[in-house]
Amino acid sequence: MPVLAVVNAKGGSGKSTMAATISAYAANAGVKLMLGDLDPQQSVRTWLRLRPPQLPAVTGWLVDGGRVFRPPAGITHAILDTPSGLNGLHLSRIVMASNVVLVPVAASAFDRDATADCIKNLLQLPRIASGQCRLACVGMRMHPGSAGENVTRKWAAELNIPMLGVVRYAQAYVSCVDQGSSIFDKFSPEALTLQHDWKAVLGWLATSFFGASAHNAMAHTLAQRGVVE
Ligand SMILES: Nc1ncnc2c1ncn2[C@@H]1O[C@H](COP(=O)(O)OP(=O)(O)OP(=O)(O)O)[C@@H](O)[C@H]1O
Ligand SMILES: [Mg+2]
Repeated sequence: MPVLAVVNAKGGSGKSTMAATISAYAANAGVKLMLGDLDPQQSVRTWLRLRPPQLPAVTGWLVDGGRVFRPPAGITHAILDTPSGLNGLHLSRIVMASNVVLVPVAASAFDRDATADCIKNLLQLPRIASGQCRLACVGMRMHPGSAGENVTRKWAAELNIPMLGVVRYAQAYVSCVDQGSSIFDKFSPEALTLQHDWKAVLGWLATSFFGASAHNAMAHTLAQRGVVE
């Protein structure tokens, strides 16, 4: 089963927001997905608890002490939210269980420096170095076309990892968490604008994580919303 881990040792970079957003997107497209929480803060477990039953289901994944348990039948994809400060054995164990690692990075030099250390650690792991596990980053809380995006793209190019796109700052991300929802559960003009920010990320995940059949269902869902022309 394909596993996507959202990783950055730097705290507050947007890992839980990214894990919940991609999970809700997939659930809206009918993917049978589990969301695992490796973070002692249990942020996404809180989000799952708050998620209203009338929204497309995201199943919680029982993950304990860094050990990943076998998911129940019927689940086709898994996403893991991970804690800040991850390195060494814990980091390599998560990468061993994953096919794709996404690294959210925020706009400040503090964020880039700490994230660069994490990316260098990731690039040294044989599973990533050999391409068995694919690695990419995404700018978080960064306006499309902003100076912050340009600086971050140069930074990613120097580190030699793909930067898939940028997700702008929006209060909707914060308010959605309180409702157990995501921008992909909404149909307002603002939500559709925010969904556009994820287009390149989701396009990359279509081949590296979701696979053709899931991707077709998702493309259909997004096209219906006007997100993909
Ligand atoms: N695009 C965004 N726009 C506005 N706020 C955002 C956005 N992305 C994340 N946030 C907010 O930034 C804060 C940090 O995000 P989040 O909790 O996802 O980071 P994290 O990497 O999981 O943090 P930790 O390392 O503590 O687990 C949260 O309050 C979240 O709601
Ligand atoms: Mg978190």
